[in-house]
Amino acid sequence: MEEIDKEKLPRHIAVIMDGNGRWAKKKNRNRISGHIKGVDAVREVVTSCRELGIGVLTLYAFSMENWQRPKEEVAALMGLLKEYLVKECGEMVKNHIRLCAIGRLEDLPADVRATLEETIKKTEKCDGMILNLALSYGGRSEILHAVREIISDLRKGKIREEEIDLSSFPQYLWTKGLPDPDLLIRTSGESRISNFLLYQIAYTELYLTETLWPDFNREELLKAIADYQSRERRFGLTSEQINGL
Ligand code: IPE
Ligand code: IPE
Ligand code: MG
Repeated sequence: MEEIDKEKLPRHIAVIMDGNGRWAKKKNRNRISGHIKGVDAVREVVTSCRELGIGVLTLYAFSMENWQRPKEEVAALMGLLKEYLVKECGEMVKNHIRLCAIGRLEDLPADVRATLEETIKKTEKCDGMILNLALSYGGRSEILHAVREIISDLRKGKIREEEIDLSSFPQYLWTKGLPDPDLLIRTSGESRISNFLLYQIAYTELYLTETLWPDFNREELLKAIADYQSRERRFGLTSEQINGL
């Protein structure tokens, strides 16, 4: 069991849950069975983060680019998402988990969107942890969307040009109100960002693991957090400055 310092927990963990397809392939099964097993990993990680006292957990569940996958796979993923929300809503309320979502939610099939909105509503007063799902999400589109909103607010006189700065800009992102991720985990051995939280990860610590998402569990999460806690975050300063020497 990894030793975790409860005083130095990441406030916000973001995860690129990758490798479901390869997990299934290794077992000579179809890709969908990898996604089904992936949902079990989601449950375990959500529960573990809640127990540990993590404030925000953002899961990259579906990218804008993922719409271009075979339509059977997209349909299966949407079905699994809806089923997850329906089945887990009670547990979320019981464990004080508030559901949020970022992305182009209007792209989701109407029934999935309705279930999503319903779950968001039912959990809106929960204050134990935020489970933030990135759905039809793309970092570049998020930034473009923010720029458009700012232009619209400028035209309406809601904001002045000199007020557009590093503190107001993030208020236009879908992650409005959330702290930036402290730790970003990507499973399955890939070392890329794949259009995830481009603006928000400026100073996020990255943790890359070979483990495929369906095999990721509480122990793997603790390993990632322990690794994060062993690092010195300098934010551009010197080590001496950070340690007050
Ligand atoms: C992650 O697993 C799930 C989604 C992107 C929705 P993949 O389906 O990308 O699995 P690999 O990368 O093909 O193994
Ligand atoms: C990133 O995984 C998106 C999600 C985990 C939802 P992908 O499998 O889509 O990323 P690439 O294609 O390997 O970059
Ligand atoms: Mg992948």
